[in-house]
Amino acid sequence: MDYKELAQVAIDAKKAAYVPYSKFRVGAALFGKSGKIYMGCNIESAAYSPTCCAERTALVKAVSEGEREFTAIAVAGSAEGGEVQYCYPCGVCRQFLKEFVSDDMPVIIAKTADDYRVHKFEELLPHSFGPEDLK
Ligand code: THU
Repeated sequence: MDYKELAQVAIDAKKAAYVPYSKFRVGAALFGKSGKIYMGCNIESAAYSPTCCAERTALVKAVSEGEREFTAIAVAGSAEGGEVQYCYPCGVCRQFLKEFVSDDMPVIIAKTADDYRVHKFEELLPHSFGPEDLK
């Protein structure tokens, strides 16, 4: 699984997004150490705040199926009918991911399968608070 392939899975994951309010589709592809890929999309709520982002959908799917270690995550997002843009994980998702990913895990932010940026997780959440801090 290379970055290009993972980026394409994240783009494909946007198809299932339930976004009647924002019309902004996000897809995530979380690559587990087992080799399995967990797809996630954003799922909105009429009450707005219960909305679940694509990244958290993917992580909840993975952890609830017993996977706790990850090699990479790709994220893709765009407004319906809008220009494709680099879509970065929100602050809540960064903190949620922190629980299970290493500081050097690659985060692929994809516009297309051929146009993506790669960051280390730590770049997105520097000086973070995580499980180690409770020891
Ligand atoms: N969204 C995600 O799914 N992931 C992010 O990291 C950024 C925001 C979703 C939430 C909401 O459904 C829509 O994008 C607009 O904020």
